[in-house]
Amino acid sequence: MDLIRTASDLRELTSAWRADGEVGLVPTMGSLHDGHASLIRRAREDATRTLVSIFVNPAQFGPGEDLAAYPRDEDRDVDVCRGLGVDAIWAPPVEEVYPSGVPLPEPDAGPVGETFEGAARPGHFRGVLKVVHRLFDLTGPCRAYFGQKDAQQLFLIGRMVRELAIPVTIVPCATVRESDGLACSSRNARLSPEEREQAGCLFLALSEAAGLARAGERETAVLVAAMAREIGATPMARIDYVAVVRDVTFEAIARIDGPARALVAVRFPSARLIDNLLLPGSAGAR
Ligand code: PAJ
Repeated sequence: MDLIRTASDLRELTSAWRADGEVGLVPTMGSLHDGHASLIRRAREDATRTLVSIFVNPAQFGPGEDLAAYPRDEDRDVDVCRGLGVDAIWAPPVEEVYPSGVPLPEPDAGPVGETFEGAARPGHFRGVLKVVHRLFDLTGPCRAYFGQKDAQQLFLIGRMVRELAIPVTIVPCATVRESDGLACSSRNARLSPEEREQAGCLFLALSEAAGLARAGERETAVLVAAMAREIGATPMARIDYVAVVRDVTFEAIARIDGPARALVAVRFPSARLIDNLLLPGSAGAR
């Protein structure tokens, strides 16, 4: 397995790979967990060669956010990737991604980029699209793998790829969860034992919304109230937002009229957590 640092080495390697097969890219910010591992396994199944990028992207963190405190453990990540049969890791310093003095075209995240995660974290999605666009430029992947855990991110990356006609197939991957339903996340490591126990409330809330949708409830206010009740009953949790969106446009809706997704964002004292679930029975709903 190659561990490379520079943009020029990355270009050289992936263009050699492209000459005799397909390149799969799994972009990450490191601190790899089972969610990342599932993306890597999927890439290994589909593509001839798999590249994992590990880069804690400063452009997607706001001034008061946890950039400095974001968990980092490169040695462990390298072992994880080797164990999964990854062909190469690109773990660049910041200047290899954003060379000084070179103005980047900034992909526009549009109105959906200002809602939910974008409202809570101004500029976040501009930073995400900027780095993902850059990764696509440097790597030229045939396929790139993203988790449904970050559904709004996945939605906006899909939109960018369509609008800019980037020749890459985006492969959405299912959310990997702990035994109590908590979605795997690098930020889970920061939760105290007490917070970790209570963090199951996100999935409980989503499951309640799913249960109501399955039973035929179409008014999203009912689902939102049930999710808010569940999280509100959790002592250490503070709601950031709970919502139901139309899956194909990511807009909040009052009534379920097709594929719909429930979203939750919750603050614990040590970490802010997000999760979402495609609502059962919503695909054929009117
Ligand atoms: P990061 O949080 O490291 O996540 C990397 C990828 O793993 C993303 O596509 C994310 O959706 C996916 N992922 C995270 N938790 C998951 C889980 N429990 N199940 C399935 N997939 C999961 O997301 C980012 O990094 C960054 O924004 C990035 C896209 C790398 C751009 O900097």
